[in-house]
Amino acid sequence: MASAGSPGPGGVPAVPVASGHSIPVLGLGTSHHGGYSHGAVVHALQKCGIRHIDTAKRYGCESLLQRAIRESGVKREDLWITTKLWHSDYGYENTKKACLESCERLGVEYLGVCKSIGVSNFLISHLEQLKEDCVITPHVNQVEYHPFQRPQELVDYCRSRDIVFEGYCPLAKGEALTHPAVIQLAKKYSRTPAQICIRWSIQNGIVTIPKSTKAERIEENCKVFDFTIAEDDVEILNGMHDGRHVSWDPTSIV
Ligand SMILES: NC(=O)c1ccc[n+]([C@@H]2O[C@H](COP(=O)([O-])OP(=O)(O)OC[C@H]3O[C@@H](n4cnc5c(N)ncnc54)[C@H](OP(=O)(O)O)[C@@H]3O)[C@@H](O)[C@H]2O)c1
Repeated sequence: MASAGSPGPGGVPAVPVASGHSIPVLGLGTSHHGGYSHGAVVHALQKCGIRHIDTAKRYGCESLLQRAIRESGVKREDLWITTKLWHSDYGYENTKKACLESCERLGVEYLGVCKSIGVSNFLISHLEQLKEDCVITPHVNQVEYHPFQRPQELVDYCRSRDIVFEGYCPLAKGEALTHPAVIQLAKKYSRTPAQICIRWSIQNGIVTIPKSTKAERIEENCKVFDFTIAEDDVEILNGMHDGRHVSWDPTSIV
């Protein structure tokens, strides 16, 4: 079982990143799918100890997050913010410009001066190719990860190169919450199916970013640091991998 790390500013454990910073093991997702809730983000920051927000230019909510972060009163230096550029931003000058524009929308002074560099949906072949072309090893790789999609070989590869593996769609967009094995474990541990999925992901050493637009669900999703799933139950969840993607499959990207 991987260690969840030591507590960061909001009380959520954080793990070291090769850039010299540390990333909270639990973050809040945002998206262009399923809506955005200002109140839920403020609640996550003020009441749930969330200090890690995941967004992207494509999600269209960077400027909304600026307002929520400001209203929450949480200091920039206590926050890990991930944003992502889009394909149209590839290339040195375009990337620099897009980073600065994201900073402006988010109302923050750094990202543009990027403290840590990440990639997303990179498989081993993509990371190997990157090794040929770039001098900096990405600090983070954000990839789909939930009980139906557990790319262990990629996780091991990232670990061997000191790349933090960050898992998105930890609830399989809700699909995992109705699986009988998850429900059974939720009953066994007196937790909810969402808490079982999130705790399992974190116990597997994965930085985990569930999304919810509902304050009470965010609270629920954050209450995962006061119990442990036993090793044989972790194995049950590990055994649910069937290779399905609920987001998209980057295999065909060359
Ligand atoms: N890099 C990429 O290519 C990529 C792709 C996809 C996602 N992501 C990132 O990963 C984050 C999470 O992924 P995701 O939103 O697709 O999937 P997810 O976190 O697995 O699931 C989110 C869905 O589950 C519901 N939900 C959340 N908490 C719940 C709870 N406690 N009980 C019942 N339902 C619950 C949410 O609905 P409500 O809002 O109604 O609660 C929403 O419909 C995204 O927000 C984004 O930041 C990255």
